[in-house]
Amino acid sequence: MINTMKSLLALCLFYSAASVSTAETPIKHTSFRPGEIWTDNNGAHINAHGGGILYDKGTYYWYGEHKVEGDAGNYAQVGVHCYSSKDLYNWKDEGIALKVVEGDHSHPIARGCILERPKVVYNKKTGKYVMWFHLELKGKGYGSAYAGVATAAKPTGPFKFLKAGRVNPGKWPLNMDKKDQTMETFKGVPGLTSSALPEGVRSEDMFKKDFEKGQMSRDMTIFVDDDGKAYHIYSSEENSTTHIAELTPDYTGHTGKFVRAFPGRFMEAPAIFKHKGKYYFIASGCTGWAPNAARSAVAKNIAGPWMELKNPCVGPKAGITFGGQSTFILPVQGKPGKFIFMADIWRPQNAIDGRYMWLPIQFDGDQIKLEWKDEWTLKDM
Ligand code: DGJ
Repeated sequence: MINTMKSLLALCLFYSAASVSTAETPIKHTSFRPGEIWTDNNGAHINAHGGGILYDKGTYYWYGEHKVEGDAGNYAQVGVHCYSSKDLYNWKDEGIALKVVEGDHSHPIARGCILERPKVVYNKKTGKYVMWFHLELKGKGYGSAYAGVATAAKPTGPFKFLKAGRVNPGKWPLNMDKKDQTMETFKGVPGLTSSALPEGVRSEDMFKKDFEKGQMSRDMTIFVDDDGKAYHIYSSEENSTTHIAELTPDYTGHTGKFVRAFPGRFMEAPAIFKHKGKYYFIASGCTGWAPNAARSAVAKNIAGPWMELKNPCVGPKAGITFGGQSTFILPVQGKPGKFIFMADIWRPQNAIDGRYMWLPIQFDGDQIKLEWKDEWTLKDM
């Protein structure tokens, strides 16, 4: 009996030691495994949610929300985490590229704010790395709907916070009818819901609601076109309409030129890429952290008109994007025409355990196609 107990104890110790060493030993990854734990060079699960990737001088940099345990992890307790990689499978922890501010509760990026979906681009004119993100001021829920910007001299940071706020106050969109470009007829909008316009409300009025103080900016991405112009693409007007806004030549502000896309379609999680001269767009619907069916669209010009396509996902669980939500579309270097769809599988009750779902983008004519894969490699593209 005692011997049996001793062997059991030895077995337990062996297994706990084995699991500890597994968690700490860096594994060499040779494939993508959507939804699985994805370890970095220290053996820790990569912590870069709602992320995006910058390719710079032979290295990929992955920036994302650093989450902590529990539901407090949905608030920014640390900042934006950065990882680097040469092969897209193995990621080195480069630390926190943008830190939240400790000890000053009134700072726009005070610890405990909501700081989501950071995206970094390189500006050739200034030689600076520019990070944009969705910011909600501490203690105000999702009511601020700000865009924030920070810059750095190196891709790994440290990024210095520049400013945050609503977007393009007092500016009319390029694609709004001239007769609508007046506040004189605006009577206000009644109770707002999260997935449909209130009855009788025109989407133009949702825009006018924030005309003076600036447009709401929540889920977002940044896209740099071949001519070097950058665009901020964000869920606006209580998430009901997407805006595509041109950035200034240094990428740190808005020029005031923008268009409204998909009015009244309530989309989040926008991601965009260019293929064979056309612009493609993937986004989600609006159901909080819960997954829903992805949307897709194509346009000949970034300013539209955009034509909505079908749900790009096919097969089982296509109706919930296989449990994920888009965050970025990555052009694979050295493989023209090959793109990776990057998505998050959120775990809001234990935010740090959120998973990543990367899938290869396929085309069927203009229609983007995404199929679930348990495991795949760049060679499969
Ligand atoms: C969905 C958004 O896409 C996420 O970035 C986050 O803001 C959650 N909603 C919060 O519910």
